[in-house]
Amino acid sequence: MKKITIAIDGYSSCGKSTIAKALAKELKYIYVDSGAMYRAVTLYFLENDIPIIDLQRAADEGVLNHYTDKINVSFENNPATGVSEVCLNGRNVEKKIRTMKISENVSTVSTVKEIRMKLVKIQQEFGKNKGVVMDGRDIGTVVFPDAELKLFMTADVDERAHRRFSELSHKGIEASLEEIKINIRQRDYDDTHRIESPLIKADDAVLLDNTNLNEQQSLEFVLDIIRKKFGN
Ligand code: C5P
Repeated sequence: MKKITIAIDGYSSCGKSTIAKALAKELKYIYVDSGAMYRAVTLYFLENDIPIIDLQRAADEGVLNHYTDKINVSFENNPATGVSEVCLNGRNVEKKIRTMKISENVSTVSTVKEIRMKLVKIQQEFGKNKGVVMDGRDIGTVVFPDAELKLFMTADVDERAHRRFSELSHKGIEASLEEIKINIRQRDYDDTHRIESPLIKADDAVLLDNTNLNEQQSLEFVLDIIRKKFGN
């Protein structure tokens, strides 16, 4: 099968990265977690005591690049899992970016146009040879508007909160179910209401509500589309 670009967008914690990783493994494509990139940039600001609330003003004054020029976001392969993990200035920060502190600040960071432009450029570079699965909020609308396959994922918010809770517990990251649910609702709101590249379903995206589907069923749903559409 000819290599294609697969763009997966959708609400927070509805299993985008799980399905993206599984697809990448199945098709032998590269997987890029664009949310991890926004999280890594957020980590940089928090670690360097740069107030998130000041970022937009710095951008308006044309000085945001004093900070962003010092930020390098890349990925490295984890040989144990075969999955790429995000690095901030060469340091693997995959675990550090999953905390509630990051989740509570990332949607403010991601509203800043200049930050988005910097990350979108890197994301487009990853996709230039196709054979990529990328998940996020603006992949099918902004990063790869010409992607051959676009998915838009959603699921019931209670179900999403439970999944997130068990994912974080497995990773040993502390968070209550209630604070996770509040954060998911807040990020859904922020991501869909921002001016710059809001989360929106692309007209040509296939809707996947996986509230009542397990991982394997969601994967089969997408593989079936790929077989039918691209004859693999
Ligand atoms: O995918 P994840 O939930 O880790 O993304 C964290 C946050 O990063 C999102 O809530 C959103 O604010 C931002 N994001 C974005 N555009 C993307 C990916 C993530 O604005 N393509």
